[in-house]
Amino acid sequence: MRQNLRTLTIAKSNSKPITWLTCYDYSFARVLNETDLDLILVGDSGGMVALGYSDTVPVTMDEMIMLTSAVRRGAPDKFIIGDMPKGSYEVNNDDAISNAMRFVKEAGADAIKLEGGVSMAERIAAISKSGIPVFGHIGLTPQSAVARGGYRVVGRESGEGKKVMEDALAVQEAGAVAVLLEALPPTLSQAITSSLNIPVLGIGAGPHVDGQLLILHDLLGLYPDFRPKFAQCFIPDVLDSFQESIAISREDARSERLDGLRELSRLAVESFILATQNRSFPGDTYSYSD
Ligand code: KIV
Repeated sequence: MRQNLRTLTIAKSNSKPITWLTCYDYSFARVLNETDLDLILVGDSGGMVALGYSDTVPVTMDEMIMLTSAVRRGAPDKFIIGDMPKGSYEVNNDDAISNAMRFVKEAGADAIKLEGGVSMAERIAAISKSGIPVFGHIGLTPQSAVARGGYRVVGRESGEGKKVMEDALAVQEAGAVAVLLEALPPTLSQAITSSLNIPVLGIGAGPHVDGQLLILHDLLGLYPDFRPKFAQCFIPDVLDSFQESIAISREDARSERLDGLRELSRLAVESFILATQNRSFPGDTYSYSD
């Protein structure tokens, strides 16, 4: 079933964890489309894992539109969020609305995500008023991480927790339909999740949120340059099932495309979905400490 804003809010009120993965191309989008995954993010992390930039700063709108269109072609049944790249929304409301509109009209996205809390509340309000659902993104925000002291847990230093809570409330107040918390201590994420009415999703934000996002290339162990603590690779968990699927008969496995990376990645994605739904992921191993 294709999720929508109503079903996401119901999932929060029923405490049913929401499952969310990134994706950047047609073939993996086809794999995700066959699963029960709730949401797909075409993240600007695609600039790193798919295009080879060393961080997300250089990614352009045209590149994001190309990646998002490919994912939409592969995953027609999924709710897709396009990630606004650095420089596409900060300058003024008109730019922000026009670029958000490109994601919807040219690439077929259902919603957009942008980084920033209090400082971006005006942009969130403007894009939301234009009729495009906005996912906020606070805590560690990779587009400005280098300037702020690199990739690190946010909220442990004095005053930081209060500021992140203010960001979360500002994002909700501005009209965002959901918010993503990145790299936060679990107790702070839990406090934010219970203070907000909108779904609160986490990546590296511990177990007490309304859903988990994971980078597809981390789930598959495909990106060698950087591996944050919260990046669980699910391939080792599904090797036995993969052996079973190729054992049926080489010929059948071949004709049904069950003999390669497509099936292995499908199994790993199913494993992530299950682990998120039964809350065994992220657990302590893939969460930061308070
Ligand atoms: O681009 C992306 O995938 C993201 C995640 C790192 C949260 O924004």
